[in-house]
Amino acid sequence: MVRTCREMNATGINQGTAGNLSVRLGDRFLITPSSLPYDRMQPEDLVEMAFDGTYVGNRRPSSEWRFHRDILKARTDIDVVLHCHSVYATTLACHHKTIPSFHYMTGVAGGTTIRCAKYATFGTQALSDYAIEALEGRLACLLGQHGQISLGKTLESALWLANEVETISRLYVQALTLGEPPVLPDDEMERVLEQMRRMSYGQAPDLDGVNDVARPKAS
Ligand code: 13P
Repeated sequence: MVRTCREMNATGINQGTAGNLSVRLGDRFLITPSSLPYDRMQPEDLVEMAFDGTYVGNRRPSSEWRFHRDILKARTDIDVVLHCHSVYATTLACHHKTIPSFHYMTGVAGGTTIRCAKYATFGTQALSDYAIEALEGRLACLLGQHGQISLGKTLESALWLANEVETISRLYVQALTLGEPPVLPDDEMERVLEQMRRMSYGQAPDLDGVNDVARPKAS
């Protein structure tokens, strides 16, 4: 988790003490502490929380523990919640823009759009409720006038998705300078989504059986 947070800042999708990260730990979860710079953060600074919001550890949990808790509770398909303030995703979020299927990679978040959640004050239950709503059937969403959330089964996949969301956001901001771009039709996005599911697209190049390229049998 410490490495992933540092990587979040090193790759440029986050800065300072913005953003936070959680990982499911059986019937509890680990979450980053609030307001501690990632380059100073050590594994023992991580906070262990129960789903009722009680915690153990030397530090205060992230102010966003409610949406981490609620997402981990609602979404048994994932084990990692990553939140960051990546610049292009947040630029779109400042305009409350949903990302449409103007490019096939919008599909990496699991649907034909990447929704933007309504604005609510950071750390509140309302923000958590809006995030859950925007994440329905998706692995990522924007947070109105705030940032983005990306989910994953692993730290690696959540970080990968957060970077993809940032790239697609950047493309969308750039495409918008020439006017609202056309969107791919739903039947094409269905094919894209099916293909992405079948190939675990972009995430598992080393695993056997996740790509549709015929491989020669090992002798
Ligand atoms: P924390 O330092 O409390 O995690 O807050 C950072 C943040 O991004 C709030 O949304």
